[in-house]
Amino acid sequence: LLDAEANDQSIKRLVDHFYGKVIDDDLLGPIFRRAIGEKLEDWSTHLATMYRFWSSVMQCSGRYKGNPMKAHKDLSGVEPHFFDRWLALWDEATGECCEEELANIYRQKARNIANSLKMAMFYQPGQ
Ligand code: HEM
Repeated sequence: LLDAEANDQSIKRLVDHFYGKVIDDDLLGPIFRRAIGEKLEDWSTHLATMYRFWSSVMQCSGRYKGNPMKAHKDLSGVEPHFFDRWLALWDEATGECCEEELANIYRQKARNIANSLKMAMFYQPGQ
């Protein structure tokens, strides 16, 4: 087992690697740039949030205090199939950064969260 410091480092590496792909992506890049900005400091705030998020998901660290539902509901221009692209890039990034067993845990967690986000964004009761 990795110690806490090594875990934090590996989350940081994975998140940085993943968002590198996202920024370059023809579908997702523009959405993220519009919401977050072009500047390095805008991105470092988002990345720091995502380190805390994944630390909370994988290690129950409780570091992330936010509302992902709200953050995503406010986005414009996202279509349901964009989630397939997000997950494909996540599968790639986890495969490139982690051992297979760990990569599969990250993938499963992301799929569950993606499904809840998608439900919240696109399938409103009564609509
Ligand atoms: C934040 C886009 C899927 C987790 C954001 C932001 C954007 C975004 C643009 C920044 C919002 C802002 O700061 O104004 C998308 C798109 C997705 C997607 C286009 C898929 C099509 C996911 C998935 C997860 C996730 C699957 C989790 C596995 C988060 C979290 C935040 C975030 C935790 C931070 C929310 C906060 O401010 O506390 N997303 N996202 N996103 N995203 Fe996503």
